[in-house]
Amino acid sequence: MPFLKEISFNWGSVPKSKRFPFNISSLRGVQSIPLKENVTFFIGENGSGKSTLLEAISTKCGFSNRGGSRNNLLLGSDEESTLETVIKLSWLPKVTNGFFFRAETFFNFAGYLDELGPEVYKYYGGKSLNKQSHGEAFLSLFAHRFNGRGLYILDEPESALSPQRQLVFLRIMRDLEQKGKAQFIIATHSPILIAYPNATIYSFDESPLREVHYWETEHYQTTKNFLNDPEKFLKRLFEG
Ligand SMILES: Nc1ncnc2c1ncn2[C@@H]1O[C@H](COP(=O)(O)OP(=O)(O)O)[C@@H](O)[C@H]1O
Ligand SMILES: [Mg+2]
Repeated sequence: MPFLKEISFNWGSVPKSKRFPFNISSLRGVQSIPLKENVTFFIGENGSGKSTLLEAISTKCGFSNRGGSRNNLLLGSDEESTLETVIKLSWLPKVTNGFFFRAETFFNFAGYLDELGPEVYKYYGGKSLNKQSHGEAFLSLFAHRFNGRGLYILDEPESALSPQRQLVFLRIMRDLEQKGKAQFIIATHSPILIAYPNATIYSFDESPLREVHYWETEHYQTTKNFLNDPEKFLKRLFEG
């Protein structure tokens, strides 16, 4: 059972101004996002609001943004303009352990660990994440840092992983999840990751966002159509 049960929104507190992040159409008007399973995926086109929501959740959880927060980079510390001011998290029980992982800023995080010194490497596979390949470093983080009961928020974890390593990642996630120790909220474009059994998938391509089934996702359908007959698929694409 998930620890974080629900993300609810209080739009009443939002001034009429329609600026970012309050103008995101997948989110605007959403009352609640129930987290029914240990694994929840956010899918949707680039720019549909997935990262903005993940960041708001993790800030609300109090997770370190040392991995590189877009708020810090682009918005400064203007708290009025951040989404976490309108969201409420419902926990049972409250869990404080966890991690926010952004593929985009992974190397900021790796550099931060290097600053802390080699004694922290034991938590991350025994050597600097900067001395491992991108994919290796990702998996080291997944395999070594994710332990204990916690909420793990991941933004496009597949971006450095080969298909085989995405499967390894699924296996690691499964082990943590089945022991009842971990909950995951993951933004992804990967048709492999979202196949995870009993996961809830929310599509940010809808206004407001809604739950979708694996089979109806474009990720599944397009990948399947493509792999059924790549030659034919491309011929149609190029002639269209
Ligand atoms: N700091 C920002 N200031 C203004 N607009 C932003 C900022 N960050 C993201 N946006 C806009 O908000 C929308 C959602 O972005 P994002 O959450 O990154 O989408 P996704 O992660 O789904 O690709 C996009 O239209 C993006 O251009
Ligand atoms: Mg994003």
